Amino acid sequence: MAKLNINGKVRDVQAEPDMPLLWVIREQVGLTGTKFGCGIAQCGACSVHMNGEVQRSCSIRLSDVKPTDKIVTIEGLSPNASHPVQKAWLAIDVPQCGYCQSGQIMAAAALLKKTPKPTDRDIDEAMTNICRCGTYQRIRAAVHMAAGMPTGSGSTAPAQRKRA
Ligand code: FES
Ligand code: FES
Repeated sequence: MAKLNINGKVRDVQAEPDMPLLWVIREQVGLTGTKFGCGIAQCGACSVHMNGEVQRSCSIRLSDVKPTDKIVTIEGLSPNASHPVQKAWLAIDVPQCGYCQSGQIMAAAALLKKTPKPTDRDIDEAMTNICRCGTYQRIRAAVHMAAGMPTGSGSTAPAQRKRA
């Protein structure tokens, strides 16, 4: 039995210590907005915030998470999809198939927290999530739009990426 703080709620979870946090979130807690893509920390589909930093949950073991660690998933980013990033994503109609997009949104929210007015280069460097549908241009536009909106809730900091 482990205790996890997810989206402000403490949850008791029953899982093997080496189970990836991604599967705990999806299968034990039932929050399925966080996606599985590669399982090896490359694609970013599984991105969540942990203590204000964006992290790839497929590559974090349950035993490496402390009860005091604050995890935020896409479901907890804002109460009513009211985070500026979510609003901009909707306004620009960013998603195509949508599979990568919760990870993209979590990465964008993290970037804006650290760099409120990012350049295209900042966006490319910080958001290393892969989109098989190639929505990168709309992602950039939406990040710029969100940067011009009043700051909402959310957390975090960027990761490294090479675009495939
Ligand atoms: S599923 Fe975690 S980075 Fe791809
Ligand atoms: S919208 Fe399809 S993978 Fe990104």
